[in-house]
Amino acid sequence: IKKLAVLTSGGDSPGMNAAIRSVVRSCAYHGVECFGVYRGYEGLIEGDFECLDARSVKGIINKGGTMLKSARSQGFRTKEGRQQAYQNLLDAKIDGLVVIGGDGSFTGALIFNQEFDFPVMGIPGTIDNDIFGTTHTLGFDTALNTVVDAIDKIRDTASSHNRLFFVEVMGRDVGHIALNAGIAGGAEEILIPEEDLGLDRLVESLNKSRKSGKSSSIVIVAEGDKIGKNIFQLKDYVDENMEGYDVRVSVLGHMQRGGSPSCFDRVLASRMGVKAVEALLNGETNYMVGLLNSKMELTPLEQAIKGKTKINLELLRVSDIMST
Ligand code: F6P
Repeated sequence: IKKLAVLTSGGDSPGMNAAIRSVVRSCAYHGVECFGVYRGYEGLIEGDFECLDARSVKGIINKGGTMLKSARSQGFRTKEGRQQAYQNLLDAKIDGLVVIGGDGSFTGALIFNQEFDFPVMGIPGTIDNDIFGTTHTLGFDTALNTVVDAIDKIRDTASSHNRLFFVEVMGRDVGHIALNAGIAGGAEEILIPEEDLGLDRLVESLNKSRKSGKSSSIVIVAEGDKIGKNIFQLKDYVDENMEGYDVRVSVLGHMQRGGSPSCFDRVLASRMGVKAVEALLNGETNYMVGLLNSKMELTPLEQAIKGKTKINLELLRVSDIMST
């Protein structure tokens, strides 16, 4: 391999820039030319890429978002789009591709490899931590810190006004952000898609903690949780079936995706970039790099896409005990 390309695709996450930097500098270290592709697969189809050297990625390790920009490409879902992307890579004599993104981005990479036998390597970048084959995706740790900071602030108002707050956090279909940030923020209840508490038990539990002397409460709700149809209906139900609390809703939204990456995410991104480039140079393809047992490991892309991440049952128990 003499020329590699790197792109970021899907939702941005803190640490993507640090990963781009690592891929570009690993290429420079190994004497490989590196191209940055703009707007994910869209840029691949449009031939929107440029050569990056070690200095092109200075001053970005601490920046949120992605300097290469990101997109959820519709064109790459079509055979014609992928054919055009392949032609552009051939014309530029690029012979390997690093994809930083989530499972949708990896699915695109896998299909691309199967159609054109083009070497691809994935780096898991998403705040949701929903990718099999790594204990941490890039951005998860930073998002957790952002959410905990927000919960701490909301608690100031909750306790000053004796309020019950429902705080919705991101995570798509999984509850990793909710469970971890909920424990760290001292939430009274944590509602996640992996565990169905039920509305009645929720009200019962909130009443119990109120009787035990609590004057305010915070309930963290993962966006994928289905206990209520949505968080506002959940609020209405609790409002009608509970006395004594002024109930409010706070949806944290996209602020969870932004901000300077944590030390953990910067180190993880740096390690993943090195591993991704070196794996491609060693002739590996169709893998995702991940953190398993503190080591960088490769997981076949197919497994990374299809495998399910499991919620940590011990954390669930800890959260139950903490809400006593
Ligand atoms: O996958 C990251 C994520 O932020 C999810 O947590 C959330 O469900 C989704 O992306 C939001 O997507 P969009 O930015 O397209 O609204």
